[in-house]
Amino acid sequence: MEIADRIVEVKREMDNFPIENASQLEAFRIHFLGSKGTVKGLFALLKNVPVEQKREVGQQLNALRMEAQAILDARKSELDEKTAENNKLDVSRPGEYTPVGARHPLSVVRSEIIEIFKRIGFSVSEGPEIEDDWHNFSALNFPPEHPARDMQDTFFVEKGEREMALRTHTSSVQVRVMENETPPIRTISPGRVYRNEAISARAHCFFHQVEGLYIDKDVSFADLKQTLLYFAQEIFGEQAQIRLRPSYFPFTEPSAEVDVSCSICSGKGCNVCKYTGWLEILGCGMVDPNVLEASNIDSKTYSGFAFGMGIERIAQLKYRVNDLRLYSENDVRFLKQFTPEM
Ligand code: PHE
Repeated sequence: MEIADRIVEVKREMDNFPIENASQLEAFRIHFLGSKGTVKGLFALLKNVPVEQKREVGQQLNALRMEAQAILDARKSELDEKTAENNKLDVSRPGEYTPVGARHPLSVVRSEIIEIFKRIGFSVSEGPEIEDDWHNFSALNFPPEHPARDMQDTFFVEKGEREMALRTHTSSVQVRVMENETPPIRTISPGRVYRNEAISARAHCFFHQVEGLYIDKDVSFADLKQTLLYFAQEIFGEQAQIRLRPSYFPFTEPSAEVDVSCSICSGKGCNVCKYTGWLEILGCGMVDPNVLEASNIDSKTYSGFAFGMGIERIAQLKYRVNDLRLYSENDVRFLKQFTPEM
């Protein structure tokens, strides 16, 4: 084949050589410009070319070599630019969405209640969910066989000598605090409690409580009332009012049930408050002297108040949840509604 024809052929080969990445670029260099490459090979043939053509063919070969170098340089800078572009950090690109979970409404309300009482000096105490008779009942002035025990239907874990039960209220924790600490005592006990009830929209076999206890010299019913008013206004808003109705608990005397003004109808009457304008939120009273004495606290020197509320009930009023069962069904459609705004 004429050398001139080879040159044309190699030129075409160069134009069609694929260079999409660094290794193809290197392959191009070796193939055309390497020490055993095509262009070198053609230069070697120059010696066979007749003298009168040598000059022209030499120029064509030089041009071919320059063209190969030009292609190599151009593709190399294109590829370099591309990698630089790929590696560039674009801070304006939108981030990847990471879905966040939601806190359970009961946890949200629980922390809120704890924060409110912490601000006025209450500590948080916790205790076991499986309790003995003493801490759940006897120390709280429930005499044996007294019908008051039926107020809270109990799940017994073991009968007989070592009778144990799932605690029916967190008052049991407060007995433990009274036994172990000396007044002044100012504590709340949040926790899960159990009652043997048929599950419905309005009752469940377990729920959550926050109970409070304050014991010191000269603690009065007025202190109790003011503490509860403060609490109601912190959790439901400053327009909230409370009213106390006489009631009975074995461990407090006098005892009361506390209603808060209905935040839904502002006390005018609606179907949530059953047209009374009031919603029951907790039980309370002055600690019965028998309870103080049972924990070796001198009831002549000290007095105290106690209160207890259901977290579900407070959450129900805050979020208008009308079925207790929703709290423990783990339905994401329900739980998602409590995802904090981002
Ligand atoms: N322990 C009571 C209950 O679980 C609530 C309560 C606590 C009432 C303290 C009065 C005083 O129902």
